[in-house]
Amino acid sequence: MCQTTKEKVFALLQRNLGTFISGEEIAKQLSLSRTAVWKAIAQLKEEGCSIDAAASRGYCLKKCGDRLSAELIRPLLQQDNWEELVVLDEVDSTNLYVKRQASKGRRGNYAVLADCQTGGRGRMGRAFFSPPGVGLYLTAAFSLPLALHNAGLITVYASVAVAGALQKVLGIECDIKWVNDLYCGGKKVCGILTEGAMDFESGRFDYFLIGIGVNIRTPPGGFAGNARGIAGAVCDFAAGEIPDMLRCRIAAEILNGLRRLENEIEGRAYLAEYRRRSMLLGKKITVYPIVGGSESYEAEAVEIDDDGRLIVSCPDGSVKALNSGEVSVKPTAS
Ligand code: BTN
Repeated sequence: MCQTTKEKVFALLQRNLGTFISGEEIAKQLSLSRTAVWKAIAQLKEEGCSIDAAASRGYCLKKCGDRLSAELIRPLLQQDNWEELVVLDEVDSTNLYVKRQASKGRRGNYAVLADCQTGGRGRMGRAFFSPPGVGLYLTAAFSLPLALHNAGLITVYASVAVAGALQKVLGIECDIKWVNDLYCGGKKVCGILTEGAMDFESGRFDYFLIGIGVNIRTPPGGFAGNARGIAGAVCDFAAGEIPDMLRCRIAAEILNGLRRLENEIEGRAYLAEYRRRSMLLGKKITVYPIVGGSESYEAEAVEIDDDGRLIVSCPDGSVKALNSGEVSVKPTAS
């Protein structure tokens, strides 16, 4: 793993959290020049790290702030069984990053996180607003020989994992809008884009990836583009104090949940929580199919079946099982 000078300095300060360590000592331990240390400290401070500097004693990291770092996430993992955590300052899209790696032959179970995305991708070809410093943009890549019929369940599983992580770290309750949008207080706080490639010989996944975008804080200029008016930030719904290292904590909890997918996906126990969190069941909805260019239609959401499909009942009495598509809840007459 290739760490930048800044990351190395941060990791050393973090190992000594709350105590002073001299610039000379940092330079010696990391085989860096004093100027390189000084520059790294200045960068870290600019990024919001709370670092005290005292001429005689050196530097002391008081709080980690909300920077994303593999060094901070790793100790929070229940099991260190992610092959790699790639943390980037900026990328077009973490999903695209993984796909590029896959096209070069990389397989395995690893995760890519970015502070910001310049071309964040959402479902149905939409963009996902991904400004720096205020969101968690994470793609978990898996090479597991899962049968393709699990495709719908992967997304369902991921939604439950993210909702659980947000509840654990921030104490907030999210509703899930089928298939995989998380809502809090009527605002969309997270979107998930699951993609995969099939191995035709085995009829199983060659690899799949789960891309998760969580709005952590409201961006300084507000949510823009197609997020305007729809998106909200999880911090705005948290009642208690916001913990230090928030993005790393949420990332670690999500990764802890996702890593259990392999053992839990077929058991379907998580479907009960998915149904409990569903914001559609029992509601009148509008369905916007994505296949065949069909027209939208009205229906009632009656069930999530054991394959994660949305079962809807139509006014003409017919019942449909939806694998994909977009739905919106019809406002109730007041
Ligand atoms: C949606 O709401 O339509 C899904 C949004 C998924 C966004 C995440 S952010 C991390 C990963 N990288 C992407 O380009 N998209 C997903």
